[in-house]
Amino acid sequence: MKSLSTRRVLLGITGGIAAYKSAELTRLLIKAGAEVRVVMTRAATEFITPLTMQALSGNRVHTELLDAEAEAGMGHIELARWPDLILIAPASADFIARLAVGHASDILSTLVLASKAPLAIAPAMNQAMWSNAATQENLNILRQRGAMVFGPGTGDQACGDNGPGRMTEPQELLELSAALFPTGLLAGLKVTITAGPTQEAIDPVRYISNRSSGKMGYALAAEAAAAGALVTLISGPVALATPDRVKRIDVVSAEEMLAASVEAVRDCDIFVGVAAVADYRLEQVATQKIKKSADSLVLNLVRNPDIISTIAALEKRPFTVGFAAETDNMEDFGVEKLQRKKLDLLFANDAGATLGSDSIAAIALWPTGRAELGPASKRAVAVQMLAIIKERLDAK
Ligand code: C5P
Repeated sequence: MKSLSTRRVLLGITGGIAAYKSAELTRLLIKAGAEVRVVMTRAATEFITPLTMQALSGNRVHTELLDAEAEAGMGHIELARWPDLILIAPASADFIARLAVGHASDILSTLVLASKAPLAIAPAMNQAMWSNAATQENLNILRQRGAMVFGPGTGDQACGDNGPGRMTEPQELLELSAALFPTGLLAGLKVTITAGPTQEAIDPVRYISNRSSGKMGYALAAEAAAAGALVTLISGPVALATPDRVKRIDVVSAEEMLAASVEAVRDCDIFVGVAAVADYRLEQVATQKIKKSADSLVLNLVRNPDIISTIAALEKRPFTVGFAAETDNMEDFGVEKLQRKKLDLLFANDAGATLGSDSIAAIALWPTGRAELGPASKRAVAVQMLAIIKERLDAK
């Protein structure tokens, strides 16, 4: 069930006994990599608590349209723009009727009316209510407007009847939802990317750093997420917006970046070290601002840990990809680094042309081959890089 990875599902729960199955549905959606926000009608909260749904979805549950506190978080119009799919499960006969008419009488009906996201409905009701012409006409109206109707199933009902109206089982709802989305190149893969420079403190106000802008790492993170990967971006200090659907962890020094990387790769398929990690840090960081009294100043530097070599040396290591920004002999230095750092793949590039720029040319090097990429925008080259990463990962 990989194609739901990174997809945003707004799960609407209406009042019906099948609401208890929405808890399991949420768990399955989360397990498949989807991000889930739950919206409940007041009647739904009589069957299952918002607290249960909050704990399972990891997000605050929306139950009221006019709730100042909730609106201050994610307002209802923002919420309407958020999902890739609105799934109403269970959808009661009453709620289906309200959708058919176009009511905006509570938060869930308002969201459906205000959203352009595809709508899927999993009806659940007594068999007589299901068979009633009013319900069938309402569903036909919704189908004509493009809504998908998942189920219902036939069988024993909570009310003692037997017939059509059972909510489709959570596992099947999951599969029907997943089938709506194309599977991305990296669907379901967990990818950790380091990006940007590190800053090594000299004293409370000064530091040593480099000219890395973070653009290449951020472009890779954005494209990997768009290809369905679950991306953790460990970022040094940069002036860039976090790409959509990417989990970003901010760090400052190389040692912090190492700690965050080791933690992230405990559950990770691919590690890409794009960061320009400072090779040295101060042996001793001054606790107070250093005064300009002497004519010259000597700073004692010690070697920083090599993050990517540490990752590559782990017993259970992810597919490990490095970068090498060189000012000369790009390919020779690249091959040497690939071998010395025991990487699966390395992208060598011209530091002078790449640093801070929006475009890049690179040579991909792996133990048994090479390929030339670009020159093109970092976003375009990122797509080529990810294709090579996937190809080499599959070959391994
Ligand atoms: O040795 P050099 O810094 O040129 O190697 C570049 C590669 O090694 C990049 O992938 C970079 O992120 C990684 N690196 C690292 N830790 C360091 C230095 C470099 O992970 N301390």
